[in-house]
Parts: sequence; structure tokens; C-alpha cells
Amino acid sequence: MCKVLRITFESFRAWRKENDVAANDHHIGTRHEAEASAIEHLWPHSNDLEWDEYTERGLRVFASGQGSTLTDVQGRSYLDGLAGLFLVNVGHGRTEIAAAMAEQAGRLAYTASSNSTNPATVALAETIASITPGDLDRVFFCSGGSEAVETALKIAKQAQVLRGYPKRYKVICRRGSYHGQTFGAMSLTSSAKERYFGPFMAGVSKVPSPNHYRNDFGLEGEAGDLMCARYAEQEILAQGPEHVAAVIGEPISAANGTHLPSPAYWQELRRICDRHGVLLIMDEVITGFGRTGAMFAAEHYGVVPDIMTMAKGISSGYAPVGAVAVRREVFEPFTKHGNAINHLLTFGGHAVAAAAASKNIEIIQREHLVERSAQMGRYLLKLADGLRQHPTVGDVRGGKGLLCAIDLVRNKETKESWGTEHPFIKGLALRTQERGLITRVWDVLHLAPPLVITEPEVEHAIEIVDSCLTEMERKFADAIS
Ligand SMILES: Cc1ncc(COP(=O)(O)O)c(C=O)c1O
Repeated sequence: MCKVLRITFESFRAWRKENDVAANDHHIGTRHEAEASAIEHLWPHSNDLEWDEYTERGLRVFASGQGSTLTDVQGRSYLDGLAGLFLVNVGHGRTEIAAAMAEQAGRLAYTASSNSTNPATVALAETIASITPGDLDRVFFCSGGSEAVETALKIAKQAQVLRGYPKRYKVICRRGSYHGQTFGAMSLTSSAKERYFGPFMAGVSKVPSPNHYRNDFGLEGEAGDLMCARYAEQEILAQGPEHVAAVIGEPISAANGTHLPSPAYWQELRRICDRHGVLLIMDEVITGFGRTGAMFAAEHYGVVPDIMTMAKGISSGYAPVGAVAVRREVFEPFTKHGNAINHLLTFGGHAVAAAAASKNIEIIQREHLVERSAQMGRYLLKLADGLRQHPTVGDVRGGKGLLCAIDLVRNKETKESWGTEHPFIKGLALRTQERGLITRVWDVLHLAPPLVITEPEVEHAIEIVDSCLTEMERKFADAIS
């Protein structure tokens, strides 16, 4: 059996003492009124929580948050190892953002998105144009990531028609990617359930995506990545370039297990798209706004996409905001009379949401959270790397900002995953939560905390993962080979 990871967590112990965090105090015992009521009336969003698990265990109902800590209605505190859902970049409890929102709501909460706007939304568009790479300087607002992806698809398809290619409607995406749950976005999402929602949007094909741990071609490093890019080109040729509107991918795909592509992959994909007149969409919904140690992950690769989607960290979750930034050349045909974009979302460019996003970006810049993400990401990876001594940790990936994945296997030689339904995985998810760490445990265990996380908190998170892994490995020793 593996040894428990032995890092001398002096600072963590001091922090735990100071914050009075007991080692094992997060069981849901007697239910709080809100927890009981949630079971009666709330239908939680889910792509992994079964109804019986929900009613048996209940949902954590969080009442407040500060920094990287969440407190539930029973007064128990948790370390938010997932920043909500990869998005509370500036941390919880920022009253400065609340004040900006209140001020805007008191003055003017809403203006119609189709034929008017407001100063808060204009200011946010200007900020986004200034911080996105290259000439991505035209911004369309919406309310979240899925809407951003739908918008990007519509922009790409209409742009191709306006450029004189009326048959370019197909979209190439990557296996393992996640782009959202509305119909078009879901059609590009590998985990979408065909049996409930198929047939999906016509003209979508999925190609392999960079993976240095289980490469589809049995190739290592950059060579494997380049093969993925060339496979995309083959797919464009197979579909006929005259039919392909766009290629879409997350610069670093959290959904696909946080594999870090080589710059050569994105640069090659950029060249391929240019060669065939295909638009490149980078989905920065998770990776934007400092998550990967750059304002946008595209910067790591020296590539400017034609269209960039963003949401999540744009407001750190203080308001539902999404946006699509478009390059000048792509936008240009929309300016001709008769070519206006055929797209309208009532809440796109909401004044209060824009005020929240602007204040959030101001904080990211003022507190140098992008740099902090890069620095703390390196620390997180260093500690997480120590978990490799566990028999069930096949790989540890990250180091580009605060996006880290611990790949869980039952056999290190064959790299066989447990499968998300296995009691080892379910048990690990439950135990980490009971120990006070919010994370996500599927085939990989994700850590993506707020960018304000401190070193002791990073140590705390790794200590919990370490001891919960040991506990599960003892319990399922017979299943590990
Ligand atoms: C890369 C990516 N795109 C799109 C989405 C969809 O965003 P939303 O859940 O805000 O609709 C997500 C959500 O996690 C995402 O990770």
C-alpha cells in the first residue's frame, strides 16, 4: 500500500489551527431547513449527480464565502478547490464588486440589447477589446458560456455566407471537449447524451485532441499534438473545405483532463485554418481572465483566433456574463447594409452584469492576479506532483496557472481509468467533500481554486487529496493492479 505523502506542511498546520478547521467535520448529519427544502423543490443542474445520490446526501447549501473559503448554512467551512465551477477568479466575498453592481442597478439596470446600450456595457466592450490578443476588438455580449458558443457558431456561419461561401456550415471540434449544454454547444460537446437529445446539429465532426498521457496515435509530446492538428486538416479535406465554417477548441481543455498542448499544435491549427479559409474559434470560457497564468490562454501559444468565446472568469461569477470577441476582418462584412448579425439575446450586455465584470477585471489587473495564478499554479503542481507516489495517480498535469488535473487510474501500466461510476471515484468525491475540500472527481480530480488562493490553502487541498486517496486505496486495494 502506498505511503501517505509526507510534506512538512508547517504553514498549513498553523493555518488550520488558526481557522479552527477540524480534520473530518463535514458530514451532512441533521439537515438544515434550506437543505431539506432544496431536496423538495430544487432541481439541481447536473451531468453526473443521480437523483438518489442527491436525495440521500443532499446538496451543500452555501451561505457565504470569503476568498477561497465557502461556508455552508450549518456554519461549516470548505476550501473551494474548484472556484465554483472554474470561475470565481477574484475569490468570494468581494464587496467592491457588490457595490459596483448596486450602484449600477440603482441608476439603470437594463437597456434593450438590440437598439440601445448603456455606458457600463460600452466600457466593458472597450476593456475586453483592449485585453484580448491581436485585433479581437469587436465584442458581442451574452449571459454565459453556452450562449457564447452558440453566438460564435452563428457568427462563423453568417460570416462565411457574407464572405461568399454559402455552403460553409460544418464545424469541426475535438473529442473530449466541452462547449456547453444548449443545442449547438451541446452538439460540439463529447459528453452530450445522444440517447436523449440526438440527433445533434448537422455537420459536426470530432477529431482527436492533444493528449500527452494517452495519445491517440501512440506518439509522444509535440509529435502527438502535431498529428492531432494534421488530423483536423484531413477532416477539413474529407468534409470538403467549401463546406467547413469553423474549427473550435479550448486552448487547454479542462473537460478533457487539462492536457497542455505544445505551442506547435495551435500554431499548426492556425495555419491549417488559414490555408482552407476556415475560421478558428478558441473557447476561452474556462481559460480566460487569468486562469492559466495569462489573461487569455491563446497568449501561451502565440495565436490569435478569429473568434474567441469567454464567460465564467469575466465576472468571477458575480453576475452571469458571456462574450464573444471577433477579429476586425471577420467583423467587417457585417458592417455592409443588409448584412446585420441575425442574433438577439435579451440579456446580452446587461448593465449590472457589465458593471460586475468591469470591476472584476479591474481587480484582476490591480492585484496582479494573472501573475499570481502563474506563480501559485507552479506551487500547486509541485505539491500535486508528490501524489504520483500513489498507486492510483497515473499522471499529474498543470503548471499553467491554477488549472491542475490528477489522473486517477486502477493500473499505472495500462493507464486504465476507474470510470466515473466506480465506487472508488464516488467515494473519493464524497470523502474530499466531507473533509472540507470542494473539487470535482471524475476520471481526473480537478483543482482550479480562486486565483487568490494562499500557499497554506494549496497545502491544505493537497493534504486532503493525499489522505483521501490513501483511504480509498486501502478500501479498494483488491481493485488496484
Ligand atoms: C470551455 C467551455 N465552454 C463553454 C462552457 C459552457 O458554459 P456555461 O456553463 O456558462 O453555459 C463551459 C462550461 O463549463 C466550458 O468549460
